[in-house]
Amino acid sequence: MRLILFGPPGAGKGTQARQLVERFHLKQISTGDLFRAALRDETPVGLEAKGYMDRGELVPDSVVNKMVEEALGAIGNDHYILDGFPRTTEQARWLLGYLDEHDAPLDAVISLKVDPELIVQRLSRRRTDKETGAIYHLDFNPPPADLPADRLVHRSDDQPDAIRTRLGVYEADTRPLAAIFEQEARFAEIDGVGEIDEVQGRIMDALRTLGARGIEATS
Ligand code: AP5
Repeated sequence: MRLILFGPPGAGKGTQARQLVERFHLKQISTGDLFRAALRDETPVGLEAKGYMDRGELVPDSVVNKMVEEALGAIGNDHYILDGFPRTTEQARWLLGYLDEHDAPLDAVISLKVDPELIVQRLSRRRTDKETGAIYHLDFNPPPADLPADRLVHRSDDQPDAIRTRLGVYEADTRPLAAIFEQEARFAEIDGVGEIDEVQGRIMDALRTLGARGIEATS
C-alpha cells in the first residue's frame, strides 16, 4: 500500500499513521520525524532544518525531496505512509513524477479535516515519548501514569507563535495541494474530529471506498 496522510499540523496524521503501520505492516515516512532525528544526530541536514522548524516555517524543497527520495528508495518504493509530505506544489509535482518514473502509483491520499481552534488545543498540550515516539495529549490521550515524566517531550514548535506560523503556512502552501491530489490520485477528505479509533474507522472506510490495495485482507 502506498498512502499519504494529508492535513494541517495537529490534525492527527502521526497518531493515525502509527495505527495504520501496525495494521498493514507499513513503514511510516514522517518528514518531521526524519528532521528531528537528523537534528538529534547533529547531521548537516538536521542543523539546517532546525531554524525553519523552530519558527514553524518549511524546510527548502530541495532538502526535503532528497531526503524522501532516499527514504522511498530504501524501502523499494512500496508499503509506506507518507506523513507530512508533500507540503508544497513543488514537492507534490516532484513526488508524482518520481512515482511515475518508478511505476509505483499512490493507492490513496487521505486528508484529515480539523478546525484551527481545536488544532491549537491539540498542539499546546501534546507530549511525545522521546524513547518510543508515542504521541500523547495531556487531556485527550494521556500518557500512562507510570511513564517517567522526563521521557515526555513538549516539541519546541508547539509554542503559540510557531503554531500560528505553521497554520498560516499550511493555508498558503499546503492546503492547495488537495486540488492536485483530487485530480491526480484517489483522494478522500474525512472528518478528523472525534475519538482516535473513530477517526481510524473513517480512514478504513475511505480506503475501502477508494479500493486501496491490501484493504481486502482486513475485516
Ligand atoms: P511535522 O512533524 O510534520 O509536523 P506537522 O505537520 O505540523 O504535524 P504534527 O506532527 O504537528 O501533527 P500531526 O498531524 O502528526 O498530529 P498528531 O498525531 O501529533 O513537521 C514539523 C516541521 O518540520 C514543519 O513545521 C517544517 O518545519 C518541517 N517539515 C516537515 N515536513 C516538511 C516538508 N514536507 N516540507 C518542508 N518542511 C517540512 O496529533 C496532535 C495532538 O493531537 C497529539 O497530542 C494527539 O494526541 C492529539 N490527537 C490526535 N488525534 C486526536 C483525536 N482524534 N482527538 C483528540 N486528540 C487527538
